[in-house]
Amino acid sequence: MSETAPFPAAFARRLPKAELHVHLEGSVGPATLLALAEKHGVVPPAYDEAGIVDWLRTDSFPGFLERYFFICRLLRDPDDFRRVAYDYLASAHDQGAVHVEFHVSSSYHIVEQVADWASILSGIVAGCDEAENALGVSSLLIPDLSPHLGAEAAHRALDSVLTNIDNRTVAIGMGGPADTWRIDDYGPCYDRARASGLRAVSHAGEHGPAWEVRHAIEVFGAERIQHGIGAMQDPEVVKMLVDEGIACDVCPGSNVALGAVSSMAEHPLAAMLDAGITVTLGSDDPPLMATNLLAEYEHAWNLASLDEDGLRQLAHNSLVESFAPVELVEAWLSDD
Ligand code: ADE
Ligand code: ZN
Repeated sequence: MSETAPFPAAFARRLPKAELHVHLEGSVGPATLLALAEKHGVVPPAYDEAGIVDWLRTDSFPGFLERYFFICRLLRDPDDFRRVAYDYLASAHDQGAVHVEFHVSSSYHIVEQVADWASILSGIVAGCDEAENALGVSSLLIPDLSPHLGAEAAHRALDSVLTNIDNRTVAIGMGGPADTWRIDDYGPCYDRARASGLRAVSHAGEHGPAWEVRHAIEVFGAERIQHGIGAMQDPEVVKMLVDEGIACDVCPGSNVALGAVSSMAEHPLAAMLDAGITVTLGSDDPPLMATNLLAEYEHAWNLASLDEDGLRQLAHNSLVESFAPVELVEAWLSDD
């Protein structure tokens, strides 16, 4: 990494921007985690916020998933989901986000927790509506399927998602451990979702190699890739991303925190931009990665030696690549 000018934080905050890669469950901070544990009579992993902050930090993907699923299990009634959706949207709004697309681990809740998706959705939508009315921040939902639960479970989760499509549910995604993709075929899940009018995205090439990104594009029909950094190992996959205009929603802080890259200096963000890949920035699971959306803009500033136009371009990408209605995108672009 070369020396760059100080990050213009106030400028970055003012840029209208969207966050397209953040997990609702992974946005829960220490205070809310403690409050939810108390509300539901669950023994928390620590008894004060400092202890929870410590517990949330892990440098391995399995360690991260253990914490992430612990948080998932604390989200039980619609009001829990309302609260975390509103709280995150308020935080994103403070950082200059005009639009957020929440990934929600639908198959974990529906299959593992045997929870009712309609009631979860009602809570999330209440939080989104509240934030839109109070703050003017727009939001959409991307129910994620979890490949480690198997295709049969993914189809069961999808049954609930597809029978409850509302005007905030815009796409399906795939998240969690990805090493079962070649055992089970998730392509038909995406076909079903598309037939019901949903768009398609997928995590790929986070810890895994370039073939995951190719698979997500060719088999899932993904229109955006979450992470996608592994694509840089295969020039043909890079070319697919560029030629097909498929954006990668990249989270450098998360990639370093979970060891997908060995250090920030090793992160391929600058190479992705140089190759012509359309990049948007996301915080993934901010309290678990000790990051937030503006910190990701700062990482990009340092990694790619950006100037203000470079930051503006990343914010612009996030608006253009969002699934928000075109009239909204045009209104945001006229302010950027
Ligand atoms: N679910 C939440 N965060 C994730 C990540 N970084 N990778 C895959 N699945 C996730
Ligand atoms: Zn993610």
